Amino acid sequence: MTLSPGRWYVTRPTDPRVYTLEPTLVSVRSDSPHPPRYVHVQTFGCQMNVYDTDRIFQALEPLNYTPTDDPARANLILLNTCSVRDKAEQKMMSQLGRLAPLKEYNDDLVLGVAGCVAQQEGERLLKKVPYLDLVFGPDHVQELPKLLERVRSDEGRVSETTFFKRKNYEFIEAKPRESAEKVSEFVTIMKGCDKVCTFCIVPFTRGREVSKSRELIVKEVENLVEVGVKEVTLLGQNVNSYGKDKDREVHFDELLRAVDEIEGLERVRFTTSHPMDCTDGLIDCFGELRTLAEYFHLPVQSGSDRVLEAMRRHYTIDHYRDRVARLRERAPDIALSTDIIVGFPGETEEEFEETMALLREVRYDSIFAFKYSPRPGTKASEMEDTVPEPDKTRRLDQVLKLQNQITAEKMQTYTGKTLEVLVEGPSRSVDKGQSHEWQMMGRTRTNVIVNFRVPMGDFWNNRLKGELIKVRIDEAKAHSLYGQVVA
Ligand code: SAH
Ligand code: F3S
Repeated sequence: MTLSPGRWYVTRPTDPRVYTLEPTLVSVRSDSPHPPRYVHVQTFGCQMNVYDTDRIFQALEPLNYTPTDDPARANLILLNTCSVRDKAEQKMMSQLGRLAPLKEYNDDLVLGVAGCVAQQEGERLLKKVPYLDLVFGPDHVQELPKLLERVRSDEGRVSETTFFKRKNYEFIEAKPRESAEKVSEFVTIMKGCDKVCTFCIVPFTRGREVSKSRELIVKEVENLVEVGVKEVTLLGQNVNSYGKDKDREVHFDELLRAVDEIEGLERVRFTTSHPMDCTDGLIDCFGELRTLAEYFHLPVQSGSDRVLEAMRRHYTIDHYRDRVARLRERAPDIALSTDIIVGFPGETEEEFEETMALLREVRYDSIFAFKYSPRPGTKASEMEDTVPEPDKTRRLDQVLKLQNQITAEKMQTYTGKTLEVLVEGPSRSVDKGQSHEWQMMGRTRTNVIVNFRVPMGDFWNNRLKGELIKVRIDEAKAHSLYGQVVA
């Protein structure tokens, strides 16, 4: 890349979803009235936070802030936090402790906490952490410039965690950065959650459901396609209930149909779904829409009807089974994944065995499994946490062991097949031996990582990135496949 005069070039923070051999260059306009400043953001938790972090960068651009992956260089450090489980919160607290000494070196440094812990703790966090300057909830990302002004004024330390009323909530149009050079991107289609699963803190930290308009979503995806993005993942806590807050003017499956028509877009994924709102209309989109990739994350949480009721999930295992059967009928090769909680208050050994039985029956391609942890303010946190920690640990181990075996068996079924792969770029590991080859990575429609080798050189990298190619699979490892480009 050539450096044109009058522009600033810096390294972008390392994004684990992007595999680049060299740091990506980002340019910042030097004709800004503001002095150049650096912002360092550490993102914890779900994809929603990854998306919000990009919006933080977008909100700060007019103030001439440039992202940096070096906290020591930053004028503003933000932790974009997750509070869905206790561990995530502890991680954030220890990270804050590690960053504290930087405040002593740099008087100008503003240290802030954003995201779900911020929303949940608000003022309390300012009291708990004396060197913290700013706390703001997910609804206030757009106002960050104003909040910074307040911090730098006489007001000093600021906490802003009020929720906007549903009717007043406005999404701003996300502007992709051409320089980010991503093949796959997230697009938030709604915020908040109107379900009240008894274990979950999300409704408290993200507020009520608000759906982005279809027009804005389509425009956002079009903007992304224009800068080279080929795949989008539509994000929401429960995307299946998209449009409910607007009296279902547009259903989720209709939104998928609208996005499917965008020229140049190759693949669409979405997350997360709730089994209760997973309609026939949505399932029927599989196998019908060109872009809709055959992968479905459908959290079940438990295999026991009694536990599901205590979790207030509003479905039975029979209903869930029916959804899975219909999905597989529509798309026989669809990959399924789920979330499992072990050790929910009152979960007996027999009820836990029902979860194990469900895993054997459904045979997911992958799962995310968690030990139950009580979250402040939730209904379940008032129940007695009956399952002793060692039992929770053992149950989690059992679940993971069983799933590892199933995943391995599923991965084996890919060998010998020729699959469509969307190339994301060179993978991290570079072959430095005699062969002078690059290892490239991409994903199948079922969201499995595929590695393959090509001769080293810009030609291959530039030509293949973002392309759909055919790869014949020679070998399946635990979490990725290896193969060769076919013609
Ligand atoms: N609908 C959301 C769910 C967010 S939480 C989404 O977009 O993914 C993600 C997962 O974390 C849940 O499905 C659940 O399995 C797990 N989880 C949530 N609260 C939990 C708690 N208190 N203890 C353990 N796991 C929890
Ligand atoms: Fe949480 Fe249940 Fe909503 S898991 S995000 S309350 S669907």
